Amino acid sequence: MEKATVRDLTDNLRGKRVLLRADLNVPMGRGGEILDETRITASLYTIRYLLDQGARLIVTSHLGRPKSKSDTHLSLKPVFDRLGTHLPGVKMKFVTDTIGKSVDAAVKSLRNGELLMLENVRFYKEETANDPAHAKKLAALADYFVNDAFGAAHRAHASTEGVAHYIPSVSGFLLEKEIKILGELTRAPKRPLTVIMGGKKVSDKIGVLNSLLEIADNILIGGGMSFTFTKARGGKIGNSILDEPSLDYCLNVGLLARERGVNLVLPIDSVVADAFSNDANTQTVPADDIPDGWEGLDIGPKTIAEFGKYLAKSGTVMWNGPLGVCEFENFSHGTRGVAQAIVETEAVSIIGGGDSASAIVNMGLAPRFTHISTGGGATLEYLEGKKLPGVEALLPSGAKIV
Ligand code: 3PG
Repeated sequence: MEKATVRDLTDNLRGKRVLLRADLNVPMGRGGEILDETRITASLYTIRYLLDQGARLIVTSHLGRPKSKSDTHLSLKPVFDRLGTHLPGVKMKFVTDTIGKSVDAAVKSLRNGELLMLENVRFYKEETANDPAHAKKLAALADYFVNDAFGAAHRAHASTEGVAHYIPSVSGFLLEKEIKILGELTRAPKRPLTVIMGGKKVSDKIGVLNSLLEIADNILIGGGMSFTFTKARGGKIGNSILDEPSLDYCLNVGLLARERGVNLVLPIDSVVADAFSNDANTQTVPADDIPDGWEGLDIGPKTIAEFGKYLAKSGTVMWNGPLGVCEFENFSHGTRGVAQAIVETEAVSIIGGGDSASAIVNMGLAPRFTHISTGGGATLEYLEGKKLPGVEALLPSGAKIV
């Protein structure tokens, strides 16, 4: 990576206040429980390193998209508590604000090797507005800024981009690793490169699909977005989700794929339901012949087998987005079947995007993937070739940092 990293700070860290931006935006259940701690554990390496070097560590993150401080269910306190379970012996404190007197006092009392976590940065609207005065206040808390929030690096917010204008700013280990792996994937992937795209809306993925047509050998489409492709080709999709404005695009992308010699593979069969519920009646039907009154909620067994043929021959597999409604056990078989098919291959396997990654973690298959990316939108924007503001703002590698 062409950016300075925490390694460049090593000689300077003892006793220094370091503001670390992590992406601890973990999925939360209705009862406020953490459903998947991948983003917490992925941040530990940089956190432990900074603490071991004797830094006075101030950790920030967002959680969800709160409208104001009154969205107390989006407090980072449960995340702080979970983080503590991974850092036995570390003196840690949580402060219920992001800037202001209570934060200043807590920072002042912080000693070498201790950790302070601030409240959800998005409790202030100035955060997402990237307000310079707000960013300056965050920067005033610390001597150095370390950005490890790869998952939020596509956001130009005060705690990801703005703050970097005021104090020396470098990348953490996780951000560095994500950029390295995605860089290798786009530059020199082991071929054939197979991309699996799921999720609901085609329109969210148009940019990335266009870029993938330049680099992929196979693009396997599943999840809600597949129905728009099927409809564009004249199929019957019943009550399945349709992204109508993308119909023309779906038709064109098929032609483009053929021109470029990319295999664009759509589902052959669908598991359909008569209601959007785990307990709905179901049947498995051809993906292009879904009866009226029924909606597709998962890919069927023939599709799993067909996808498996491409996966078995792949050198690299990149997966973004679930292939069915994974939160319903009865419609998670497609995602599970494809995950199993991937881990049985020798391919380099990378999965990104909150829902698909957390499905893999919950299946216990995470250790068998080459890399579980903590980025959803950030991964897609990177693959589209867009600059990530949270990375751009960091010092270049080789910069002299004092
Ligand atoms: C994510 O979940 O992709 C990141 O944490 C970014 O969250 P955001 O889309 O709310 O900015």
